[in-house]
Amino acid sequence: MKKILVTDPIAESGYTILREAGFDILDYANSSREEWIHVLPEAHGWVIRSGTNPDEEAIQKADNLEIIGRAGVGVDNIDIQAATRQGIVVMNTPDVNTISAAEHTVGMILAVSRNLAQGHESLNRGQWNRHALVGTELFGKTLGIVGCGKIGSEVRKRLQSFGLNMIGYDPFLTQDDFDPSHLKIVDLDTLTRESDFITLHVPLVKDTKDLFNVDRFKMMKKTARIINVARGGIINESDLAHALIHGIIAGAAIDVFENEPIDENHPLLNLPNCILTPHLGASTKEAKEGVSLAVCNQVRDYLVHKNMTFALNNPFED
Ligand code: MLT
Repeated sequence: MKKILVTDPIAESGYTILREAGFDILDYANSSREEWIHVLPEAHGWVIRSGTNPDEEAIQKADNLEIIGRAGVGVDNIDIQAATRQGIVVMNTPDVNTISAAEHTVGMILAVSRNLAQGHESLNRGQWNRHALVGTELFGKTLGIVGCGKIGSEVRKRLQSFGLNMIGYDPFLTQDDFDPSHLKIVDLDTLTRESDFITLHVPLVKDTKDLFNVDRFKMMKKTARIINVARGGIINESDLAHALIHGIIAGAAIDVFENEPIDENHPLLNLPNCILTPHLGASTKEAKEGVSLAVCNQVRDYLVHKNMTFALNNPFED
């Protein structure tokens, strides 16, 4: 009987699919690397979210592994090259989290423009800070969307009704892909200089690592705010803290971090102009259910029928 190792929490419906297909489940969803690493050599399939790092060391131990299924979009936590060398297929579920991530982004933009979290906190501390927490309207402002693919487009559609001017940058898309009355495509420096709000929707890869660093923050308007519901590492976190503390930019709303979970000394904690959420972009009932069903169906279909859906590599290429 083939075995599936699960090392991050997924919705129960995914387990049902795997059990009904006759797989033996090695459930290490709430365990440490030290615990699951010993059973990894037994696994034929490995289901993860962003909390597990299948790096080269782990992959080399996975003697029987045929597939890594990532319940979610981001694959920066997986050493895909090491998997390819070892004949292991890597798949993700690119569509399922889109709406949840877009809705969380809209929430973060509203929260950072109107000091929602700061207002709530100050009331809990017994303070009525009405005059200290003056926000800014979105109407008439410019929103810069970095990464105009699935999630970026859903954010744009949802914010269209707020009367924002929308500009976008995407290394793989041009103005021909968008109606200019909905989104004007510009280069990254223009977007950085002209935006009142910048929202990031690119993956973490070599070219996007530290894309927003102190030099880029200095190009932004002093009144601008940045939102990251994409991936930690795209913004340099200590540079952002510096920019927020020294008034180089006005505010930030951050859902994702270079190392998760963050520790109590993280430079973005307790800054008055920065709101943080603990990687909640895809934490909805619908998205969790959706990625669990999608990834477990994909893993089953690969192990039983050799069907490849949303494969990110092809280890069988010559
Ligand atoms: C994703 O990449 O799908 C989201 O960030 C959620 C997750 O990390 O699982």
